[in-house]
Amino acid sequence: MTTLDKITHLLSRLNPRWVAALEKSLRKIPAVQRQIQKETQSIGADLEASLKPYRDDFSSYTCLPSVGRDRDGILAEMQSLKDREEARWSQGYVSGAVYHGDQAHIEFLSQAYAIHSQANPLHSDVWPSITKYEAEIVAMTAHMLGASQATGDAQVCGTVTSGGTESILLAMKTYRDWARERKGITHPEMVLPVTAHAAFDKAAQYFRIKPVRIPVDRLFKADLAAARRAITRNTVVVVGSAPSFPHGAIDPIEGLSELALERRLGFHTDACLGGFILPWAEKLGYPVPPFDFRLPGVTSISVDTHKYGYAAKGTSVVLYRDPELRHYQYYTTADWPGGLYFSPTFAGSRPGALSAACWAAMLSLGESGYLEATRRILETAAYIHKEIETIPDLYILGDPLYVIAFASRTLDIYQVMENMSHHGWSLNGLHRPSCVHLCVTLRHTQPGVAGRFIADLKASVEEVRLHPDEKTGIAPVYGMAASLPLRGVVSDFLKKYLDVLYKV
Ligand SMILES: Cc1ncc(COP(=O)(O)O)c(C=O)c1O
Repeated sequence: MTTLDKITHLLSRLNPRWVAALEKSLRKIPAVQRQIQKETQSIGADLEASLKPYRDDFSSYTCLPSVGRDRDGILAEMQSLKDREEARWSQGYVSGAVYHGDQAHIEFLSQAYAIHSQANPLHSDVWPSITKYEAEIVAMTAHMLGASQATGDAQVCGTVTSGGTESILLAMKTYRDWARERKGITHPEMVLPVTAHAAFDKAAQYFRIKPVRIPVDRLFKADLAAARRAITRNTVVVVGSAPSFPHGAIDPIEGLSELALERRLGFHTDACLGGFILPWAEKLGYPVPPFDFRLPGVTSISVDTHKYGYAAKGTSVVLYRDPELRHYQYYTTADWPGGLYFSPTFAGSRPGALSAACWAAMLSLGESGYLEATRRILETAAYIHKEIETIPDLYILGDPLYVIAFASRTLDIYQVMENMSHHGWSLNGLHRPSCVHLCVTLRHTQPGVAGRFIADLKASVEEVRLHPDEKTGIAPVYGMAASLPLRGVVSDFLKKYLDVLYKV
């Protein structure tokens, strides 16, 4: 046993809060430092090789070529890089990531992008086409999420953003600024389930909002009673997911939003993953609990057009119950020598072409397209769900519709994930509890894909059952990251991972 193993063993028995307090001192012990360095260095070396697969076959650039290269050559090089990557996701080996991916759809989005490639909605006078597209993306999304049936004097509105994270960051900043001005709250807090997306924690860090995390129940849904207890005089917003990223569980949005309404707080539904699925699932007759503006307590929603909205990557929508709230999101300055400056989101200049392609995607699918896509995804997910339940070593977490998390009481689930990667699969590893998920997309509805997933999963489980001690590849990294009580060490490792991404 190494010193780090001994300390890990000891710390795993302590309250995580004490461990966090002790961590700085423990990391000053030279033996611990040496061990951490040794372990992270060896993992880092393996990782670098896997993250930089093109070094041998393609030239690298650390400075501009002295003379510009010919365009055909550049495009040919890009094409061969793309060709190496495409088969994996297009043949449905990847969880989430590419949500539509049919060739004709991709070409259509690329055409829409090309038409508007120079557009920047910061210059709304030059490109009013983009403001038209964005206003309509927001209106169509709001309508889909119950805006026209919203009670009271709701006037649902919103903005287009660059992705789910930006939608969430903006909403949290909005509540912080709203509560400061309207209620005089200077030490804001947000109440959120432990399963809410990491983007909320990012918002908490960026905007100095204290995150107050509440536990989830055995179905991985937020604990309502805990939410009630967590609200203080400083709470500015309560959060729920529809559904959550890790286990695909839909939080009790109705109860949470009523709680927020009673206490005159904001309530944010994170429907980044579900906003373009759940409304259609409901129409198809699936049991979908209410989560949108039809609930009077829901004051904002994040919803990703670049996931199940089937737009190209780089767009999402954040919606508010009324324009007054949206005003706290905007940035304006009237004193800058550069002139009157105002922007709705974090960015200044923005890629108008992505909004154009998003608008085009929504129009080309229409209600019938989304309904049909949802039907295919939910039927495929139900098949996968049912088949996983027949594998004795595995069990499913909660009662998911299309983000299916599974774990094992008998095997190391990260080894199963590693083994699946030998069959070509890229699944998401999760922890607390240790599990793996498949986020089902249209890619998995292609003939044969779901059957192949199940066959490969059975083979992987069998392989791990026969060789439980062969912990190779990513399995030990996940194992360490999931179990190491020194969370700062794990964070430092992740920073090093990011450094590697930027190495030429
Ligand atoms: C529930 C949920 N919220 C937020 C996000 C963040 O979205 P993005 O990666 O587009 O920033 C995700 C991403 O998967 C998600 O699943």
